[in-house]
Amino acid sequence: MGQLEGRRALVTGAADGIGRAIAETFAHEGARVLAVDLSADKLNTAFAGHAAITPIVQNIASEGAADALVARSSELLGGLDILVNNAGIPGELAMLHETTDENWRRVFAVNVDAVFRLTRACVPLLRSSSCGRIITTASVCAEYGLRLQGAYVASKHAVSGLMKGFAIELGPDGITANCINPANTVTGITRDWFSPEQSNEGRAYLDVASVLGRYSHPEDMAAAALYLASDGGGYVTGQSITIDGGMTCRLPSLSHATRYQS
Ligand SMILES: NC(=O)c1ccc[n+]([C@@H]2O[C@H](COP(=O)([O-])OP(=O)(O)OC[C@H]3O[C@@H](n4cnc5c(N)ncnc54)[C@H](O)[C@@H]3O)[C@@H](O)[C@H]2O)c1
Repeated sequence: MGQLEGRRALVTGAADGIGRAIAETFAHEGARVLAVDLSADKLNTAFAGHAAITPIVQNIASEGAADALVARSSELLGGLDILVNNAGIPGELAMLHETTDENWRRVFAVNVDAVFRLTRACVPLLRSSSCGRIITTASVCAEYGLRLQGAYVASKHAVSGLMKGFAIELGPDGITANCINPANTVTGITRDWFSPEQSNEGRAYLDVASVLGRYSHPEDMAAAALYLASDGGGYVTGQSITIDGGMTCRLPSLSHATRYQS
């Protein structure tokens, strides 16, 4: 028996990367899943003929998207137990003082406004569930800054606060709200950024990026989402689980300390 037997889930940004791994993991654990994405092609490639996963083409940042997805959840699943706000975009790389209004608004429209609107719209369905869960894919950028990605960093700090707010206000209804904070996951948006582990550049970056010596996989993130969605994660709310291979647990080494490394 799967950990999510009989549960109904909606996952955004589900056609690729972390969202796809979450949708597949949830389905494997017994959930029926609505997989929402912009890209019909990628959805079909990923899920055509999948018994437990229904693809839905929807831009979550478009007018009326939240209400449309609530209607599809009611119609196709008869309700909703788990909402995963996973879709997100990095925006253009730019210094903050050179970031355009358009770039800023585009990042916030997907990463923050759409998450707020969809979560708000799903509250009545989640209240009717006996195990309501809200899980948002934020980032280590919800905890730390990153040069040239100020709009993205600000948007991820915003959804982290948003989840705390929903956690506090919906806790009395038995609904939990949490973030998973990935780092260095090899997916569609980052494949070009992370050099292969075998290259000199890739190894140098990994020395800084992880104490485990590898990039993360979407499945590492799906495992954390599964924990939060499962009965075992039922007492966790208003939190962020950082899955970063230890990147943020250490200070930069001082040169006198490196002499003692084996
Ligand atoms: N990959 C990483 O290293 C990393 C690190 C930290 C946080 N994240 C976060 O993880 C989440 C997933 O990222 P990923 O790396 O799996 O990316 P990805 O590009 O592999 O997948 C994202 C999916 O979201 C879809 N999408 C984008 N905008 C959408 C919209 N408006 N409506 C519906 N679907 C939309 C895309 O079509 C794509 O299929 C994002 O929120 C991202 O910020 C990723």
